[in-house]
Amino acid sequence: MCGIVGYLGDRQAYDILIKGLKRLEYRGYDSAGVAMIDEGDFRLFKCKGKVSDLEDSIGSNIKTGNVGIGHTRWATHGPPNDVNAHPHLSNDGSLVLIHNGIIENYASLKAELINRGHTFKSDTDTEVLVHFIEDIRDKTGANLFDSVRIALSEVIGAYAIVILDKSNPNQMIAARKSSPLVIGVGKDNEFFIASDATPIIEYTRNVVYLEDEEIARLDRTDGLKIVTISNQHKDPYVQELEMKLEAIEKGGYDSFMLKEIHEQPRSINDSIRGRMSLATGAVRMSGVDEHEDRWNKATRILIVACGTSWHAGLVAEYLFEEFARIPVEVEYASEFRYRNPVIYPTDVVIAISQSGETADTLAAIEMAKDKGAFIFGVCNVVGSSIARATHSGAYTHAGPEIGVASTKAFTAQVSVLYLLALSVAMHRGVMKQDRLNRLMAELNSVPEKIAEVLKTNEDVKKIAAIYKDSTNALYLGRGYSFPVALEGALKLKEISYIHAEGYPAAEMKHGPIALIDENMPVFVIATQGASYEKVVSNIQEVKARKGNIIAIVTEGDKVVKDLADHVIEIPKSDDSLVPLISVIPLQLLSYHVAVMRGCNVDQPRNLAKSVTVE
Ligand code: F6R
Repeated sequence: MCGIVGYLGDRQAYDILIKGLKRLEYRGYDSAGVAMIDEGDFRLFKCKGKVSDLEDSIGSNIKTGNVGIGHTRWATHGPPNDVNAHPHLSNDGSLVLIHNGIIENYASLKAELINRGHTFKSDTDTEVLVHFIEDIRDKTGANLFDSVRIALSEVIGAYAIVILDKSNPNQMIAARKSSPLVIGVGKDNEFFIASDATPIIEYTRNVVYLEDEEIARLDRTDGLKIVTISNQHKDPYVQELEMKLEAIEKGGYDSFMLKEIHEQPRSINDSIRGRMSLATGAVRMSGVDEHEDRWNKATRILIVACGTSWHAGLVAEYLFEEFARIPVEVEYASEFRYRNPVIYPTDVVIAISQSGETADTLAAIEMAKDKGAFIFGVCNVVGSSIARATHSGAYTHAGPEIGVASTKAFTAQVSVLYLLALSVAMHRGVMKQDRLNRLMAELNSVPEKIAEVLKTNEDVKKIAAIYKDSTNALYLGRGYSFPVALEGALKLKEISYIHAEGYPAAEMKHGPIALIDENMPVFVIATQGASYEKVVSNIQEVKARKGNIIAIVTEGDKVVKDLADHVIEIPKSDDSLVPLISVIPLQLLSYHVAVMRGCNVDQPRNLAKSVTVE
């Protein structure tokens, strides 16, 4: 979703802003803009389209200035166009502001400001906010820092903002509520600011994560000052970034998505490393060890998440029920939060989120917390809002995921949830040690098996070439493979724009079978395990109606090979670990189909990497 970048120091801001905006492109956006202060005035440029379009439109215009802000906008209020793009000016043009999030009471504020003589150019809530701040400043005579604080105390909604006053090129004011902001602290009061650390990392490793309802003043002379909306002073907590620059670059791959697919043997290793010991036969998850009582007394687990993370939650449902024998319900966070659900204090709620910023998941957490449930987070982004809002949790350690379509984050989530289910089973005394040992050893071998599957890339590419012009696709799986069918379908539709649906294989005859004809590719996860024979019957049903079967099978399989049009072999593993391995060829297939169709795989249309609006 929208991205923010800002700079204050001795260097030319423009280059840093443009580079920063390019680093933020992965979040998804439809317009971009920058504003610098130079010789007492703003140099403001913005336009619909990509950051490269912005650069082209600026051309050789003067773009100097040592302080500046930049923004990538993902449209909410008003269509993506040059006028609605950020930054936005205040009524008298003295202030300029960029904003992520939504100001819910913008309509009433706007009406009040119009009565007071303000005129607006855009459809955005952001323009209302900067006018409102100017109005407070003019009414109260307060300085900009205090005016922002007073204005925000009357604002309802979510925001991360950065604001400049053209008469003061030595200062930048920023604030956040429910939308992240990171301040990079350089030498001699040089500052960087961004909605995540990716634009900052090459300049400084020292960062301050702004907390909810905090306002920061970054000043060339006075340094960094932070207060809360209620005007309490806060000492800035400077921490060191762990992220590596290589992790946010393509490293020789054509796209971030392809790089991230290939990173999975490494990322899964990072997710499980240090959390289980084959030597001692134990799983160590601090979030379970330290809260053993809550997990042991849990009568139910509720899982809340969205999209791909919700699919990881579905895999976890099977894992927890099979290993720990606790009933599990998996909920779309967006439905759960508005349903008035029954939540008991004995419930454990697991919130799964790559970004840790998804608005619906965050709201679901707050609701469950109010009802006394114990909340456990599974997040990838360290220090994210969800990681901070939960009572305990486990990071997935997949490293930054830049491709909008989630790949390595999914397998890292499933790996962590796998260990979590084993750990809870161990604490509750419902799993025999020899089974635990066997499953840990199997999990340990998954990265190697994925490395094997990645070698099928060229074969998968050939299959992609055959089906790239399809208009529909069906994905089928049973048991642990049903969530993989959903995930395979989501990957295809989101990056190639081919309509695809995932179904439990047996459900096919209750409706979707009507769709099957010689033009329908049907992807089936048909590995040998508990429901193998049943899936073979489902494949026969598809073949009888002339559907094309592309099956993911266990190495050496003969039966499905004879029936299917194409097979992709994967190494044998326990049923419970198949999702981690069988999803890989489906990721590769979606990738190749999308590339062959000329789609931008890293930044699919209309999508955002972290969905910070509900
Ligand atoms: C799909 C995808 C999305 C996200 C969803 C939740 O490839 O990435 O469906 O999974 O938007 O995002 P997080 O996990 O950040 O809460």
